[in-house]
Order: sequence, then C-alpha cells, then structure tokens
Amino acid sequence: MKVSLTVNGRAREAETEPRTTLLDYLRDALGLTGTHMGCEHGVCGACSVLFDGAPMRACLMFAVQADGHEVVTVEGLCKPDGSPGVLQEAFQDEHGLQCGYCTPGMLISAQALLNTNPSPSREDIREAISANLCRCTGYVQIVESIATAAQRLKEGW
Ligand code: FES
Ligand code: FES
Repeated sequence: MKVSLTVNGRAREAETEPRTTLLDYLRDALGLTGTHMGCEHGVCGACSVLFDGAPMRACLMFAVQADGHEVVTVEGLCKPDGSPGVLQEAFQDEHGLQCGYCTPGMLISAQALLNTNPSPSREDIREAISANLCRCTGYVQIVESIATAAQRLKEGW
C-alpha cells in the first residue's frame, strides 16, 4: 500500500506492506533511523515520535494508520542546517546520555513537554519522561538536560 504523510515538515510517500509498523516504515522505507527500536511492544519509549503533535509509540501503530498525518522524528528536532537543536545540545552539555539508545525517545518526550509547558518544574519533567526507560543514566542528568533546554529556549537560543 502507498502511505503518504508529512515527516519533519516534508511530504513523504512510500509503498509498504499493510502489516508494517510506523517504526519500521520510518526506519526502513524513509531511512530515518534516529527513531530507535527497543522492546517493540510499547514499554520502553525508544520509538517515540510526535504524531499530530502528541508523543506516540511508533511500534504500536501501523504505517497505514499514519497516512495523511504529521510525524516528527528526532531528526526533526535539529536546526534547519542539520546541526543539533537546543534540546539535543543541552543533552550533550549536561551529560544526559550514555549509550544513547533511549535518547531519541527522551528527546521527543521532552519536546512534547516543552511545546505545552515552556517552564516545567523538575517534577513536570520527571512526569513527562516517566514512560521512557533508560538503562544507563539514572535519569538525573536527563532531567537537568531538559531543564537547561527550557531555560535556554526562554533566553532565545
Ligand atoms: S520499541 Fe516501541 S515502546 Fe519500545
Ligand atoms: S543512555 Fe543508555 S539507555 Fe539511556
């Protein structure tokens, strides 16, 4: 089947099997491998994308269900020149990642939070990433990264 959708502001289209998940479609048909495959059953959050602005697990949807919709992947959080966006830079500066496997999903959940709450408390941040699992960091530096990004965005970075 042909699936047409908007990804990171661009119209994209590709043929895929009806059984293909949105996660596999993004990675294999569109080459957007920033969205990571973890558990493949909705638990870890590594595959999170923004779907019509809301965080969604791409492993739990079929690609055909996304036809006509708008998706933002971690690649879409970069600046227009492809350099790291404010959130991505904050994760780097505050040591918000170790192996990096959870990071795309963390960044998407953080972006969803900042889109609706530009001044989140540490508690707000912990709540926003509570469905994203990280096996490395202990979460403290991830929370600090998101708080730093929020502060920088308010300063006009
Ligand atoms: S890969 Fe989708 S939630 Fe784990
Ligand atoms: S940085 Fe390794 S899983 Fe989070």
